[in-house]
Amino acid sequence: MPSKPAAGIRQARKEMGNMDVADKFSEGVESWETVIFLYNSALKEVGTKLEILNDEFRHIHNYNPIEYIKSRIKTAESIVKKLKRNHYESTIENMVNHVNDIAGIRLVCSFTSDIYRLAEMIGRQNDLTVVSVKDYIKNPKDSGYKSYHMLVTVPIFLTDRVIDTKVEIQIRTIAMDFWASLEHKIYYKFEGDAPEYISRDLRECAGIVSMLDAKMLSLNEAILQAREEQKDS
Ligand code: GTP
Ligand code: MG
Repeated sequence: MPSKPAAGIRQARKEMGNMDVADKFSEGVESWETVIFLYNSALKEVGTKLEILNDEFRHIHNYNPIEYIKSRIKTAESIVKKLKRNHYESTIENMVNHVNDIAGIRLVCSFTSDIYRLAEMIGRQNDLTVVSVKDYIKNPKDSGYKSYHMLVTVPIFLTDRVIDTKVEIQIRTIAMDFWASLEHKIYYKFEGDAPEYISRDLRECAGIVSMLDAKMLSLNEAILQAREEQKDS
C-alpha cells in the first residue's frame, strides 16, 4: 500500500503547516521545511564529528570504537503520532520542544567498553551540549532493552543566526542492536501486546545478549593482554 504513508506525510505536513508559529520559537524558525532542514544539518554535523573521532581513534590506537553509524530523521507521521500520544497539539513549537528524537544517530560498537569510551568522547566535545543521559545498560528497561542514550544539542550556524538543535544519540553493542531490532519488529507486529511467551523469550534473549557481551569483552581483554605480554618478552 504505497499510497498510505505518502498520504500520512501529506496529512502531517498539512497539520504542521497550519500551525500557529506566532510564538517565541518563530523568532528563529518559520516552517516545517526550515525545522527539518535544521535537524538534517544537525545530523550531518554530529555524524561527521563522530566519524572524525572514530578515524582519530583508529589513527592513534589502530582500533575502531564504532563498527557502524546509522542516522535517520523521524517521519512526519511518527512526529505527529508521538505528539498525540503525549497529549500535545501538533504545532511546530511542541514538536521542537517535546519530541527529542527527531534527529537520531545510532552508534553500534563491538564491546560495552566502547560504549562508555564513546560517551566520554562525546561529552568532551566543546561544541556539543549534553542535555541528558539515560543509561539503559546499567538500568535495562523491563522489556530487556539495553542501550546508552544521550540527548545533545549542536549549534547550527546559519547566515544570520545560530540555532542549537537536538540530536538523540543511541550507543549500543552489535548484540544489543540485534536484540532491539527483533524486539522492535515484534512490538510493531503485535502493536505492543505480544503474547506472554514471546515477551518471556525476548527477556531471556536479553539475558543471553548480556552474557555474550560480557564474555566477548573478557575474551577481547585477554587477547589484548596476551599481545602486551608478547611485546614485553
Ligand atoms: P520514545 O517515546 O519511545 O522515544 O521514548 P522516550 O522519549 O521516553 O525515550 P527512551 O529513551 O525511553 O526511548 C527512546 C528510543 O529508544 C526509542 O525511540 C527506541 O528507539 C529506543 N527504545 C526504547 N525502549 C525500547 C525498547 O524497549 N525496545 C526497543 N527495541 N527500542 C527501545
Ligand atoms: Mg523514539
